[in-house]
Amino acid sequence: MQKMIIAIDGYAATGKSSLAKRLAKTLQFKYIDTGAMYRAITYFALQQEPKGSVHEKQLIAALDQIKLHFELTTSGQEVSLNGVNINKEIRQSDVTSEVSNVAKIPEVRAVLVAQQQAMGIEKGIIMDGRDIGTVVFPNAECKFFLTATPEVRAKRRHLEQMDQGIHESYEDVLDNIQTRDLIDSTRETAPLRKASDAIEIDVSDMTLEEVYQKIWSYILKKQSKTS
Ligand code: DC
Repeated sequence: MQKMIIAIDGYAATGKSSLAKRLAKTLQFKYIDTGAMYRAITYFALQQEPKGSVHEKQLIAALDQIKLHFELTTSGQEVSLNGVNINKEIRQSDVTSEVSNVAKIPEVRAVLVAQQQAMGIEKGIIMDGRDIGTVVFPNAECKFFLTATPEVRAKRRHLEQMDQGIHESYEDVLDNIQTRDLIDSTRETAPLRKASDAIEIDVSDMTLEEVYQKIWSYILKKQSKTS
């Protein structure tokens, strides 16, 4: 398969990362979950004194002390912050509640977008996020934009969290998803938006396998056009 950039954007809990991971394995491409990068910065901010809330100015001043590292293992992507693995911590509810507020800070976005662009320089990469097709890689060869109703997404995320031992009620998960949708899509810098040339897929009534097959057939079509 010719090396290319595949951007998978869309709303929270639409299955972006499961799909991206499977595609990356099949294509032997690198996979980057950019949401995990925003979560790692949020975790860092919450650890700064006074702990438990985000102090924007302090965070901006400390951005150059943050070293993120990603490694793809058989069990998924491992994220470390200044040498410490924080895979589990970035999925906890305190991080999930604050991440959209951190992701709207332009200075944070500038640092992470530059890192993401550097990771894609050799192509052969699949990135999932909110602004990959619009801002990070506007020239990506394949762009997908996934949507689904908030209720379908909350049900999905609630089940996933229970599997991971994170106990939060369905109502709280739904509330968080709706709040994040609003903040992510109305922020000034790089709001969540479908790129004009992205393929939009409403996954509300589709299985993950059906979505995968749909995406896969577009990739094959694109590949045959460019080779
Ligand atoms: O994909 P996720 O739910 O782990 O993402 C966490 C948050 O990070 C999400 O609410 C919005 C933000 N995000 C972003 O603004 N831009 C990205 N490219 C990826 C995530």
